[in-house]
Amino acid sequence: MEIKIIIQRQENPDTKPYLQTFLYKGDGALTVADLLAEMNAREPLMDADGKPAPRISFASSCHEKKCGACAMLINGTPKLACSVFLNTAVQKDNTVHLAPLSKFPVIRDLVADRSATFAMLEKMQVWLTRKRDEGEEQARQLQYAAGQCLACGCCLEVCPNYLAGNAFGGAAAMIQAYKAIEQNEDDAHRAELKKQYEEHFFNGCSQSLACAKVCPARLPLETIQARANAHLLKKHSILQKR
Ligand code: SF4
Ligand code: SF4
Ligand code: FES
Repeated sequence: MEIKIIIQRQENPDTKPYLQTFLYKGDGALTVADLLAEMNAREPLMDADGKPAPRISFASSCHEKKCGACAMLINGTPKLACSVFLNTAVQKDNTVHLAPLSKFPVIRDLVADRSATFAMLEKMQVWLTRKRDEGEEQARQLQYAAGQCLACGCCLEVCPNYLAGNAFGGAAAMIQAYKAIEQNEDDAHRAELKKQYEEHFFNGCSQSLACAKVCPARLPLETIQARANAHLLKKHSILQKR
């Protein structure tokens, strides 16, 4: 099988992106991340026209769906490159398209700068002052699930309301805020977390749940969001009683 790998390339944040095509010959029984590593090991790396090409920058670490570093657009859909096999990604015209996540600034080629997601957590004060240990079983299970978030940004890519640097933090922020609200023993900090959750998630989420459909960790985003919202609505009903 001969597959055309069409990659959106960009030398640095200030240059324009362009497309470059490479050829792969084989049965496609390797992941997209392994394919990129194989291409970078070619000596020299040539494009489909036989011209020398610079090495392809991409991020990866664990190669087993645990770190989120390799998130990119594969045929326009956000996925983890280490979890997608080339023979499942190839389209009818024998092409596979690779591009960086589009909601973040590009550092180089397929590497996007996702630091805005971590800056948002800092802004929302998502950390534990004092950890609470008790809690009902369902909450513990959801908190554990929330802890599996890879911070990959796939949910942010498909979110109609997210753009890096804006006030809305998307599902990646929601899930961490939820965990911190439930696990925090400190009342004042928990109240602040709810305020931040309202401002940076609740007020901006339009409930499309596109995020849940693409999450590579298959996290129960709808249930977690419902739990987090319930904390907020409880807060408001208490305020109303007062
Ligand atoms: S439910 Fe929709 S608007 Fe809300 S975070 Fe998910 S994708 Fe974004
Ligand atoms: S919620 Fe899912 S898609 Fe979003 S950052 Fe976490 S693991 Fe990635
Ligand atoms: S390299 Fe870690 S999730 Fe893909």
